[in-house]
Amino acid sequence: MSLSGNDKTEGSSIGSQSAMSSCGEDPLCEKGQATRLLGPGELAKQNGSGPVVSAFKQAKLEKEAQKNWDLFYKRNSTNFFRDRHWTTREFEELRSSREFDDQKLTILEAGCGVGNCLFPLLEEDLNIFAYACDFSPRAIEYVKQNPLYDAERCKAFHCDLTQDDLLEHVPAASVDVVTLIFVLSAVHPDKMHLVLQNVYKVLKPGKCVLFRDYGLNDHAMLRFKAGNKLGENFYVRQDGTRAYFFTDGFLAQLFKATGYEEVVNEYVLRETVNKKEGLCVPRVFLQSKFRKPPRTP
Ligand SMILES: C[S@@+](CC[C@H](N)C(=O)[O-])C[C@H]1O[C@@H](n2cnc3c(N)ncnc32)[C@H](O)[C@@H]1O
Repeated sequence: MSLSGNDKTEGSSIGSQSAMSSCGEDPLCEKGQATRLLGPGELAKQNGSGPVVSAFKQAKLEKEAQKNWDLFYKRNSTNFFRDRHWTTREFEELRSSREFDDQKLTILEAGCGVGNCLFPLLEEDLNIFAYACDFSPRAIEYVKQNPLYDAERCKAFHCDLTQDDLLEHVPAASVDVVTLIFVLSAVHPDKMHLVLQNVYKVLKPGKCVLFRDYGLNDHAMLRFKAGNKLGENFYVRQDGTRAYFFTDGFLAQLFKATGYEEVVNEYVLRETVNKKEGLCVPRVFLQSKFRKPPRTP
């Protein structure tokens, strides 16, 4: 595991443990309202590290965000993130959003990467049509080349969620579920609201955005050195990709300011075990659902 690289254990466990299980079955997992509290050593390290990356470098990172993610996929092809088979277990909307049994569910995977969420979902539920977009052209090419890609069931397209209008590819108010899985953390905090506004337009009234991402004080946050800090809870990896670590309050404010209603917004605390290295590390994720208000009669 690289100390300052992207984190392939997002949402799954390191080493011998397999993918994220629902907390009910997992003694090492807790869900709740509070994030992990830091120990004294960890606290000192966090308090001592103000933003040190220059304004010039910060602007360059923002300008090159797309290029840096595209290079990430050039280096790693489809081999970096593990398939995310936990999404239907964690988000019952992915199964139960239907008004009648054989209704086709339309989903949008915003920031789909190479399809680690998308393809398990399409395999599990044959009655889904999925839109999938990402701003890395290479990632979208990998999605389209995947043997499970079927243009009858899936439309993958290039889109920078902070500036390209989703309505160019997806009809207004046509989507039953939007997933934002480890995507918003890669966006500059000043632009996150643009992603939520974009997604709002294609979501049907009364339907949800399903969110899972890094939570405050996650192990990945504590591994960053002071020189990698861009701002409050915001860091840059060696490869130029960035990671924001969410508090529940910040996320709720962001969604509510865009017009969504909160349904669930809670931390998921896990201990993940790397048997080979004899390490047990505390992971913190934020898992949430926000709803576009139903149409009023
Ligand atoms: C950590 S990866 C997660 C990919 C995928 N959701 C998954 O769960 O495997 C973050 C993804 O967000 C994409 N991304 C970051 N900023 C974006 C933006 N402004 N518009 C569209 N995609 C973006 C990156 O290209 C990358 O594929």
